[in-house]
Amino acid sequence: MEEDRRRFLSWLTALMAGIGVAASAIPFLSAWKPKLCHVKPEFLSVDLKSLAPGESMVVAWQNKPIWIIRRTQAMLDTLPRMHALLRDPNSLVKQQPHYVRNEYRSLNPEYFVVIGICTHLGCSPQYKPQPGELNATWPGGFYCPCHGSTFDLAGRVMKGVPAPINLEIPPYRFLDAHTILLGENPMLL
Ligand code: FES
Repeated sequence: MEEDRRRFLSWLTALMAGIGVAASAIPFLSAWKPKLCHVKPEFLSVDLKSLAPGESMVVAWQNKPIWIIRRTQAMLDTLPRMHALLRDPNSLVKQQPHYVRNEYRSLNPEYFVVIGICTHLGCSPQYKPQPGELNATWPGGFYCPCHGSTFDLAGRVMKGVPAPINLEIPPYRFLDAHTILLGENPMLL
């Protein structure tokens, strides 16, 4: 009798312990379960070899449109002349990686990499690279059709428009002369 009672008690103890382990595992399992529909690649390598001077391309990274523009020397030459028209010509607002806080807002002046989302209310600006394309004094740059914000060819916002700050630059680094990796900063910086 005493033997049966002992056996029953140890069976009951084992059962309760099993239930406890299973219950404590539920939050862990549900937290661990991959959320496949929300997966966003953290890094994206982009081959720029097919991009001719003056051309642009768009890739999706982290659910954002990333514009990559191969600027010509003529386009680059406009940038130092823009300062008087710009709200933040030296990119002092900290919304971009520090390694692109330069005249061209890029690691390599030739390739401009920027998030194609207007910093006013999130519309998608248009690429208008030709001088005079928008109006007689237009130097070339980006135009947001929603409320008329304008940016130069380094994504710097012009004075007197609704967008408060320059277009944002994503983190990226060059894997070689014509390939970038979005999502990762340069190793030495
Ligand atoms: S969203 Fe671009 S100007 Fe308003």
